[in-house]
Amino acid sequence: MRDVVERLGYEVELRVEGKARFYAPRLPSEKGYAPTSLPVFYNPVSKPNRDMAILFTKTFFKDKKIRVCEPLAGTGVRSIRLVLETDVVDEVVANDISKKAYELMKLNIELNDVGEYVRPMNLDANELLSMCGRGRPRYNYVDIDPAGSPAKFMENGFRGCDRGGILSATATDMSALTGAKPASCLRKYDVIVSKTPFSKEVALRILAGFMVRTAARLGLAAKPILSFQKDHYIKVFTAVDRGITKAKEQLKQVGWISYCHKCMRIYTARRSEKPVMRCVECGVELSPIGPLWIGGLSDKDLVEEMYRCALDEEEIYRDVLKLLRYLSAEDSEIIGYYPVNYVAEVLKQSPIKPRKVIEELRAMGYRATVTHIDPSGFKTDAPPSTIVKLFKELKLKS
Ligand SMILES: C[S@@+](CC[C@H](N)C(=O)[O-])C[C@H]1O[C@@H](n2cnc3c(N)ncnc32)[C@H](O)[C@@H]1O
Ligand SMILES: [Zn+2]
Repeated sequence: MRDVVERLGYEVELRVEGKARFYAPRLPSEKGYAPTSLPVFYNPVSKPNRDMAILFTKTFFKDKKIRVCEPLAGTGVRSIRLVLETDVVDEVVANDISKKAYELMKLNIELNDVGEYVRPMNLDANELLSMCGRGRPRYNYVDIDPAGSPAKFMENGFRGCDRGGILSATATDMSALTGAKPASCLRKYDVIVSKTPFSKEVALRILAGFMVRTAARLGLAAKPILSFQKDHYIKVFTAVDRGITKAKEQLKQVGWISYCHKCMRIYTARRSEKPVMRCVECGVELSPIGPLWIGGLSDKDLVEEMYRCALDEEEIYRDVLKLLRYLSAEDSEIIGYYPVNYVAEVLKQSPIKPRKVIEELRAMGYRATVTHIDPSGFKTDAPPSTIVKLFKELKLKS
C-alpha cells in the first residue's frame, strides 16, 4: 500500500464494489464530508447509480458488442465494473479532466487487469465528446455523471452518441430542479419551475425534457426509457435515433404542468398550447412549470428484465432490488403523485395507507399505482374530487 500512496501522493484505501477491486482516496471518518473535496471524487453512496447503469447495459444491449464513453469517470470504478460485470463491452473510454483522477484510473485498470478494454483519458469532457463524428466513431453508450448539473455536457453528449445508442445523464443539482432555486433552473435548463408535492418527479421530467430538446436541436430523437430518483440524485437514460421527423415526434411530449395547491388538480398542456393559467375548479391563479417531459419516463418491460437480471446476482445488486420493484409497479405515464400525508394535511384528517388508496381507486376503474420516488405516495388519473371523497369515506370506516 505504501508504494501506491507514494505513487499517487495521497492516502488511499482498497475498496470492493461489485466485481471490481479499486483504490479510492481514504474517506474522512466524520460524516457529511463532500466527495468533491477528496483528491479524486468517489462517493460510495452512488453504488446503486452504478448498479443501475450496469444492469441497464446488460439488459438493453444483450449480446451486442459496444463502445462506451464515461466522460467524467473519477476513480474509473463504473467503467471497470461495466467490463467485469457485462459481456457486451468491447471498449470503454474512461475520461476525467483531473490529472489525479487519470493517474488513479490507470492504477485501477492495472489492478483489475482490464487494460485491453478500458482506455483512460485526461481531457475536458466536452472536448472528448465533440471529437466524435466526421469520420471518428461515436459511442453506443455515453454515461454523463457529473457532481452537479449535466446541462453543459448534454449537447456534446448527444454528438458523441451513435444512432441506436444511449445517452444517460445524472443530475445532483436537486435544489435547482425541484424548485428551491428557480433562477438556477432557468439558467441551466431554460425551465420555469416552482414547488409541488411531487417536485422530485418534476425534476426527472425537467431533465428528460431538457435531453429531448437538446437532441432535437441536433436533428436527433431522444426517447426517455429509464428514469429514476434515488438519494441525492436523478438519472435518465434516453434511446437516441436520427431524423427530424422523429425528433419532432418526441417534442410533442414536451409541455407544461400547472398544479393547483388549493384543490390538488394537475393540468398538462403541450408545448404548442397555452399552459393552464387558472384552475377551472376553484379559480386560483396557477404558475405553470416547463417546458418539461409529459410522456412516460420508463419502459416497463426493460425495468422488469433489469429486475430479473438483478435477482440472478442478488449479492451484487441487492441495493437496487427495491427500486426496480417499485419502478416495475409504477405507471410512469401518469403525471405527478400525491403523498398521503399531504392529502391528509389538506383535508385536515389522518393519512390513509397508500396501498389501500390504490386498491380502492382501481376498484372504481381509475389508473392508480405506487411511485418509486416516495413510498407514501400514489399516482392516479382520478380527479382530486374523487380522491377527497375516498379519503373521507375511508376515514369514516377506520
Ligand atoms: C461525480 S464524479 C464522477 C464519478 C464517477 N462517474 C463514478 O461513478 O464514480 C465527477 C468527475 O467529473 C470530473 N470533471 C469535472 N469537470 C470535468 C470536465 N469538464 N471534463 C471531464 N471531467 C470533469 C471530476 O474531476 C470528477 O472526477
Ligand atoms: Zn383548484
